[in-house]
Amino acid sequence: MTTTISQDRKIAYLEDLKTLLRIPSVSTDPARKGEVRRCAEEVARQMKEAGLQAVEIMETAGHPVVYGEYLVDTKLPTALIYGHYDVQPEDPVDLWTSPPFEPTLRDGKLYARGATDDKGQFLCHIKAVASLLETEGTLPVNVKIVIEGEEEIGSPHLAPFLEQHKEKLKADVLVVSDSAMYAPDQPSLVYGLRGLCYLQIDLKGADSDLHSGVFGGAVPNPALELARILAQLKDSEERITVPGFYDKVEDMSSEERAAYAALDFSPEELKRSVGVNELTPEKGYSALESRTARPTLEVNGMLSGYTGEGAKTVLPGRAMAKVSCRLVPHQNPAEIAQLVEDYVRKLCPASMECTVQQMHGGHPWLTPPDHPALEAAAIAIRKVFGKEPVRLREGGSIPIVIDFQKILGLPGILLGFGLNDENLHAPNEHFRVENFYQGIEISKELLRALVP
Ligand code: BES
Ligand code: MN
Ligand code: MN
Repeated sequence: MTTTISQDRKIAYLEDLKTLLRIPSVSTDPARKGEVRRCAEEVARQMKEAGLQAVEIMETAGHPVVYGEYLVDTKLPTALIYGHYDVQPEDPVDLWTSPPFEPTLRDGKLYARGATDDKGQFLCHIKAVASLLETEGTLPVNVKIVIEGEEEIGSPHLAPFLEQHKEKLKADVLVVSDSAMYAPDQPSLVYGLRGLCYLQIDLKGADSDLHSGVFGGAVPNPALELARILAQLKDSEERITVPGFYDKVEDMSSEERAAYAALDFSPEELKRSVGVNELTPEKGYSALESRTARPTLEVNGMLSGYTGEGAKTVLPGRAMAKVSCRLVPHQNPAEIAQLVEDYVRKLCPASMECTVQQMHGGHPWLTPPDHPALEAAAIAIRKVFGKEPVRLREGGSIPIVIDFQKILGLPGILLGFGLNDENLHAPNEHFRVENFYQGIEISKELLRALVP
């Protein structure tokens, strides 16, 4: 790899990442509202220090957006870089080897909540700007940077923000580093993301928990009934049974399936990396296709009855499950949520009172794998890694990417520096320090490659 950053700067950049990681900017937790703002202030400080202009903490109805820009010449293209400084909650805390908000280096990896999702990744771009301005005094193209604080809660205020600041945010291309590389030494260009709909299902049986010996056998059990309902949502071929679920699904083209088949993908490796004996892809599709380009339904959590130490003979009065679907073009999140709700209600026995809440969602995003906007990123990757990027879709969701496309007309370059094995959203989240430096190099080359 070509390195253009001095050792001194590398150390300083990593220290700045650690400073960001020490701030518990958990957007979903109202008690952390002040920490989220403190993180926005630190992002703004680092943007200013990088030499960005017009740096500003911009208010929304929720957590603020941090904005900065460096405008070189109106005749040159403008890259709008997006990232998020908010993070997922750190729990379960006891499963972390080192405390989640004390960034710790082990084996070339920096461990902390937000390391790979997304503080380490968006910071690559800010440090690329810092490095270019320091060594060259200017940037190859115009740059605008938007770092938001609500991505992990579904970006509820970002679409109105884009509408409101359409003129200010005018650009030619969107750059997002909030996804994964294909392998540690193999960068990827992501041309599709799945959408999302999320539901909570509550069943109520008896008015309170009961003695399971005194009442069991006669009184219905909500935990069991909920398990029965959930078990019916997928069949033995891993197809979702919700009527109408697949009606609008656009299947992968034969060209795309051929491109997927040509990728160096090892199901064995995937099994090993997550610690399972078997994978459960949808019948007729590979695990890689099922993980990135096919819709799915997952149970995210369940709660009922006694879950403490030892045994307690109880017949629960209530049971709850959180369920979400990942969606592909042209599934509509609200429509699918309604289909799931209707089917759950239909499956629910008369013995139970059923409540279904539809929570946040997001639309899927897909662009042609050979979209011309991706070429600049491919050039940057060739320069830094000396190889072609892998082109594929990713299974996660960044719902706002489609809004940048719809509201600002921007094609998206999704250029991840993280890896899917870096425990994002889980205990022991980390980011490979080498990828942090490579990310900075790629970002510098990308800005150069955007010059027409
Ligand atoms: N960075 C992730 C999404 C992601 C991960 C994309 C890996 C591609 C590869 C993002 O921060 C995220 O977690 N998104 C949420 C969406 C949401 C509405 C809370 C998700 O995918 O669950
Ligand atoms: Mn993210
Ligand atoms: Mn995330």
